[in-house]
Amino acid sequence: MSLVFKISKNPQSKIAECDFNNIEFGKLFSDHMFRVDYENGEWKTGEILPYGNISFSPALSSLHYGQAIFEGMKAFKDTNGKPQLFRPLDNFERFNISAVRMGMPEISEALFIESLRQLVNIDQDWIPTKEGSALYLRPFMFATDDFVGVRPSNNYSFIIFCCPVNSYYPKPIKVKVEEKYTRAFDGMAGSAKAAGNYGISMKPTSDAKKEGFDQIIWTDGKEHKYVEESGTTNLFFVLSDETVLTPALDGNILKGVTRDSCIKLLKDANYNVIEKHIDIEEIAQAAREGKLIDAFGTGTAALIAKIETIAYRNERFELPAAEERKISNWLYKKIGDIQTSKIEDKFGWIVKI
Ligand code: COI
Repeated sequence: MSLVFKISKNPQSKIAECDFNNIEFGKLFSDHMFRVDYENGEWKTGEILPYGNISFSPALSSLHYGQAIFEGMKAFKDTNGKPQLFRPLDNFERFNISAVRMGMPEISEALFIESLRQLVNIDQDWIPTKEGSALYLRPFMFATDDFVGVRPSNNYSFIIFCCPVNSYYPKPIKVKVEEKYTRAFDGMAGSAKAAGNYGISMKPTSDAKKEGFDQIIWTDGKEHKYVEESGTTNLFFVLSDETVLTPALDGNILKGVTRDSCIKLLKDANYNVIEKHIDIEEIAQAAREGKLIDAFGTGTAALIAKIETIAYRNERFELPAAEERKISNWLYKKIGDIQTSKIEDKFGWIVKI
């Protein structure tokens, strides 16, 4: 039986303000949001309400002690114009993994999935249909105690809002291998989608931007030798024999849903995919010898972000032109076609609204 939420419809839709042909990522929000609060050890009744500001005490504990987690997901329309979600159960599982790591309460599958379905159903006219676009969904949870002191909060809010989006990176990106700062270390929260993991990336990424790069490639915290993620995405490298390398999930790397989709699709098409600790020297040597034929980041927002330049110490490796990339172009099209049901969903990734 589906959960019953309170519903307050927005009397003033902003949809006419949305230019669906020119969408900027993360700037425009749909008419409604979902909110449910956690109090006295349980989730209360959820509510779909007009998207808008919320007010909190300056002592809001998540602002001070960082108990804040989120997910990134997307809704699409199928070829008949019906709304659908891509792999929401995987985001649900990861959300609870993040919650446990951050000492926050878990949420039930029914609450997570049903709130998404009902919210997307109400705002389905906001789902863009142009190739590469989607309705980006942002479920997040944060501590709401107004309390100064370091202990887990007793109260939390879980909110979902939606934005129509195009791809996060409109063109191939230039990345720099980061050897000073560290994103995560053994025992930390690298595999959680915790707000703080993004907070600590701001300074190193801004520094790299000043040098003309779009993103950094994080390396391990012990030796700065093994590649981990690139900014907000997981990483893939393709060698000239079409072997595909991606960093193994070692607890410090986010278990990307798009990463997993790429691995499954590649293996299904008989590509040799190797998940391992990847020494940056192996990638640099392949690039020096002209054997690095593709490199890309994967993520919900970015889908496939092709890397055009990798800077490593005083070397700069330029990769083949984006249009020539067989594997990243194939993955981009294949995943996009599954998300919009243009082709068969043989892995059972689509959830209809
Ligand atoms: C996502 O890929 O969904 C993220 O959370 C990253 C952010 C850049 C939007």
